[in-house]
Amino acid sequence: MANKPIKLALAKGRLTDDFLQLIEQAGIHFSSYYEKSRKLTFLSDDGAFEMILVKAMDVGTYVENGAADIGVAGKDTLLENGIDVYELVDLGFGKCKFSIAGPESYDFYQQSPLTIATKYPKITNDYFKKQGKQIETIKLNGSVELAPIVGLSDVIVDIVETGNTLRENNLQILEDMIEISARLVVNKASYKTKESRITPFINHVKEQLSKQGSVSS
Ligand code: PRP
Repeated sequence: MANKPIKLALAKGRLTDDFLQLIEQAGIHFSSYYEKSRKLTFLSDDGAFEMILVKAMDVGTYVENGAADIGVAGKDTLLENGIDVYELVDLGFGKCKFSIAGPESYDFYQQSPLTIATKYPKITNDYFKKQGKQIETIKLNGSVELAPIVGLSDVIVDIVETGNTLRENNLQILEDMIEISARLVVNKASYKTKESRITPFINHVKEQLSKQGSVSS
């Protein structure tokens, strides 16, 4: 019986577009995929891979639980969800960072308890626990920059890419926390049982990245 396709969990958006471009150069094509489609699964032209489209926050969950063999996930989502997978390649795209931000020159280390609005309470709590600082997190689902402006929190912990959102809301970075980027992750059991198909794929990806001069590990 023919092998079932290797399942690739991707999230619609820029990371996926960059990744699909990368694997196309390695000869893996998803001709039936187009961005505006509402379909959630696509087979590669050679039938060897099946792409499943999930929410960015859920890629790690699909891979950790074996519903997908391989995924492309932001390091932010892996950390926030405490995802247990093999993180095999730093794809080098989707680069941004987590920062603590607030009103200009705000001395957040003096504030106790410090309230922090964020979409990422786990990352925030882990970071401040290491610093031995007591905080209270307020979980929001977006537009976090609003929180200190309207007095919901003292500061925010959020992703900063260009810094435009902070600037346009008169906030500034008070401290940088962690650099993040897109990672290629693999389910631990799949890596053992489907090694002969997964390893060449990983090597193709690494090869294309090194041709592009990106960082891989
Ligand atoms: C993210 C993040 C910041 C913004 C940072 O928000 O939460 O708000 O991007 O990018 P910048 O530094 O380039 O301005 P997203 O676009 O995901 O929307 P959200 O605020 O609704 O979460």
